[in-house]
Amino acid sequence: MDTINNKGISRREALKRMGLFMGSTALGMPAALTACKKEAKKRILFYFTATGNCLYVARQLADEHTELLSIPQLVKQGRYDFEADEIGIVYPIYGHMPPNLVRNFIQKAHLTAAYKFAVLTFGARKCNAVGIWDEITRKAGKPFDYITTMIMVDNWLPNFDMNEQMKMDKGIPANLERIRADLAQQRHWLEPFTEEERRMHEGFMAYTHLDPEVGFLMRSEKYFRITDACVGCAICTDVCPRGNYKLTSTGVKTEGDCDFCFACIQNCSQKAIQFAELPDDPLLARGEVNPNARYRNEHVSLWSIKNANRQ
Ligand SMILES: Cc1cc2nc3c(=O)[nH]c(=O)nc-3n(C[C@H](O)[C@H](O)[C@H](O)COP(=O)(O)O)c2cc1C
Ligand code: SF4
Ligand code: SF4
Repeated sequence: MDTINNKGISRREALKRMGLFMGSTALGMPAALTACKKEAKKRILFYFTATGNCLYVARQLADEHTELLSIPQLVKQGRYDFEADEIGIVYPIYGHMPPNLVRNFIQKAHLTAAYKFAVLTFGARKCNAVGIWDEITRKAGKPFDYITTMIMVDNWLPNFDMNEQMKMDKGIPANLERIRADLAQQRHWLEPFTEEERRMHEGFMAYTHLDPEVGFLMRSEKYFRITDACVGCAICTDVCPRGNYKLTSTGVKTEGDCDFCFACIQNCSQKAIQFAELPDDPLLARGEVNPNARYRNEHVSLWSIKNANRQ
């Protein structure tokens, strides 16, 4: 209630004259808190996701001053200029490297921020993923101040049964707490990796013959086939960050450069997308572990993945 004092002016009016009245929400708020509110850091957080892990992590690291931006949407819009107090990125490692789309985006982007951080999600073996991101971003003239990894469900279908992966406790809440605490104090730190991990990555590259400057960049028509179980629901056309799927009069077709992210195969409503049989391909020599098991992060809706990736 607005009371009248003995000089005949209201409390509100008195505060106004003293330069302290800032509207009813600020009334009674200590000056330090008001200043703190004004200084809230603006954070931009980029993410790339196929099965929701990275979107979940990005959401968990976001506060009300964070703008969450999907990299495939930014690429679609041709947006490459960004300015904020802090800029972060969350992406899944593919063969310990960033997805090709993420690599191209960061090489092109102009980032203005006092603090840059990266969180790389993985499922089983991170090797020197931190060193790889450090090298890519340094070469591109935008080194990151903080790079860490975070273990989640491994969505690499050739080697892992998704049903088994989902049962595993990967210590996600504790890891999120650790990263939140680091970011709150703008920690400058690159998570260390061992020489053995670096050598393991080299062995992987020699075995797969992937180009280290490119990473996974396949052709979707070579690796995926659509079975008769397809009902034409069109989910695949929305979740592919490359727009590689089309509904045609003769069924669903896929074609195009492919990050091998597995958004299509994992999110298909009928498990109608399967890997082609490629016994001579080092990645698929043994097929996949369980063609009937598919994964999407339990906290992330299909709708969100479509919104993140739709082309
Ligand atoms: C093509 C591909 C390669 C992958 N390579 C690795 C890897 O080298 N090491 C690892 O631990 N996990 C690897 N993974 C697992 C993902 O990095 C991990 O599941 C990630 O959290 C998925 O994120 P998302 O759900 O946001 O798509 C790979 C997954 C895919 C699809
Ligand atoms: S998501 Fe699966 S079922 Fe739906 S249209 Fe694509 S291939 Fe067919
Ligand atoms: S075709 Fe499938 S694996 Fe390739 S980019 Fe599209 S969604 Fe990802």
